[in-house]
Amino acid sequence: MKSHKKVIILGTGGTIAGLEPPSGELLEYKAAQVDVASLLQGVAMPHGIEVLSEQVAQIDSKNMNAEVWRGLIGRVLRWQKQADIAGIVITHGTDTIEETAFLLACIQSSSKPIVLTCAMLPANAPQADGPQNLADAIVWACDASNQGVSVVCAGQIHEAWRIQKIYTDRLDAFDSGAHGVWGVIQNGQVVLKRNISKISFEFQIPSAQFVVQTSNWPRVWLIPNHSGSEDLQVLAWLEYAQSHAINIDGIVLAGTGNGTANDALERALNHAQTLGIKVWRSSRCYQGVQRKQKADAFTSAGYWSPYKARIALILDLLYQLESASKARALI
Ligand code: SIN
Repeated sequence: MKSHKKVIILGTGGTIAGLEPPSGELLEYKAAQVDVASLLQGVAMPHGIEVLSEQVAQIDSKNMNAEVWRGLIGRVLRWQKQADIAGIVITHGTDTIEETAFLLACIQSSSKPIVLTCAMLPANAPQADGPQNLADAIVWACDASNQGVSVVCAGQIHEAWRIQKIYTDRLDAFDSGAHGVWGVIQNGQVVLKRNISKISFEFQIPSAQFVVQTSNWPRVWLIPNHSGSEDLQVLAWLEYAQSHAINIDGIVLAGTGNGTANDALERALNHAQTLGIKVWRSSRCYQGVQRKQKADAFTSAGYWSPYKARIALILDLLYQLESASKARALI
């Protein structure tokens, strides 16, 4: 009997589902126009693989938010439970794909792979890259050696932990830094370049169910340090939050070098901490780990980029909420 594998494709929008105007002006294209079932019609389907599809969202990924993430995670959990599904592919915009991939990787507890894919050119562009990326993602989602969360683009497989968008205008827009790509896909064949990374978290992870069920995710904002950063940038937030009765639960510093803030910004962030706001520090630098220091005022986000560190802090805060609600249930 021929082997037969089933993959579910979850559509969320992005340039892969985008359309350029009839004039062919590429820069005037609109993301998130074509439904995922129609996208699949343009894909040379790998042999022996059956695909199902579901539209989970239809957005430009610059608009990604907690509500869409909760919906997406809910569908991922649902399809991972279905015994005959080998893997999950998610079509997504390139702009925040690394954030969604990181979030899914943190809460993933199933061995069924999640493969995100995307495109740099809209679906009706003459050289559209989406169909090939989608075909590659489907092959990789069925591969027995794949048990993680990854992004497939331009024939490269990037681990969710490592990927970062580094080009605005190249089909191979992503990089995995010093670790390099997890693998490549050439003519429908997967070639792995290394083993999957072993990650030890220095933050807590709530259950995926709690993440889906909780509508009021902690509010975590990102602040950069740069030449001329002012304490006012943080103090204005604090004043606004107080006068509008909103909570800021966490701040991630996108710091210079080893995750540093200038003296004024550091004082303002210390003040925020005294108000009960968690402050973590990450680095603007593209590569490298932030070293811990003896007199660290803020928790170091280790090797996570500011954008991934923000998600890590949200998860850590959600974990605390989940623990508190479990403790209340025991009383
Ligand atoms: C988006 O991220 O949704 C738009 C840009 C892209 O997919 O390349």
